[in-house]
Amino acid sequence: MLKNVALGVFAAVNLSMNTALAAGGGDQYIVNYAFSFEGPLGTFDQNQMQRGLKIYTEVCAGCHGLKYVPLRTLADEGGPNYSPAQVRAYASENFEIFDTELDDYRPAKPTDHFPENVDAGAPDLSLMAKARAGFHGPYGTGISQLVNGMGGSEYIASLLTGYTGEEKEEAGVTLYENKAFPGGWISMAPPLYGEDVDFDDGHANDLVSEAQDIAAFLMWTAEPKMMDRKYTGFVGFLLLGVLSVLLYMTNKRLWAPVKGRKIA
Ligand code: HEC
Repeated sequence: MLKNVALGVFAAVNLSMNTALAAGGGDQYIVNYAFSFEGPLGTFDQNQMQRGLKIYTEVCAGCHGLKYVPLRTLADEGGPNYSPAQVRAYASENFEIFDTELDDYRPAKPTDHFPENVDAGAPDLSLMAKARAGFHGPYGTGISQLVNGMGGSEYIASLLTGYTGEEKEEAGVTLYENKAFPGGWISMAPPLYGEDVDFDDGHANDLVSEAQDIAAFLMWTAEPKMMDRKYTGFVGFLLLGVLSVLLYMTNKRLWAPVKGRKIA
């Protein structure tokens, strides 16, 4: 009975949350995309990580750095999971690092981090998925985040799909109207239109699909150990469950002689 009431309340809150999502909080429009890493046992999808890396490399890296991400982690299980040889090739083919000892640029190695990129005035994307929230409210309570998560990857995917096509000039800067960006006008030109990259396995490369792939990849760069965290949490949850049962039984047993006694 109590459980049904609790479930009912939960469902009602969830429902109102999903409708509130359309507003996103303030004037933002955030789409609640489904990601493989959501939920207590969600995991990163290795193929999606590889697609996201490709989009980052071919499109976003032109303006955005990933300076907190060591290149060698591309070989990590739970991430893109490339072989060490593939990571070596990827690093040296795509990035140049300024080596203070050589006093010159050299091809990047797995021991380097992704380079930072300050030229375009674009923020570093390493931790962006954790620095932004897609879900707010309702009414400042934060319940939406409790139910749906912070929504950093939903925010990024919504941002990339949220351009309306309107532009305006302000103080010499071109601003682009975007439904997901707080305030509605962003100085980043639409980086993705769909079919911006081709995948070796012929995977869909429409705009919505690409936006989700890069958003998922950026969640991995921001929290590469998410799967470990979830696994540890789950094991802890199970152990506490077992402990509760044992304590309950012990309690029953300890009190059994007292409870059975009749008060004269
Ligand atoms: C031509 C340069 C350029 C490219 C290419 C580019 N960006 Fe940006 N990006 C910017 C600039 C400039 C800003 C800062 C915009 C602002 O604050 O108005 C920005 C901001 C962002 C933000 C932060 C928005 C916020 O909430 O503050 C995200 C996320 C982002 N870009 C993601 C991407 C992704 C993902 C790609 C690749 C698909 C990409 N960008 C490609 C220039 C670029």
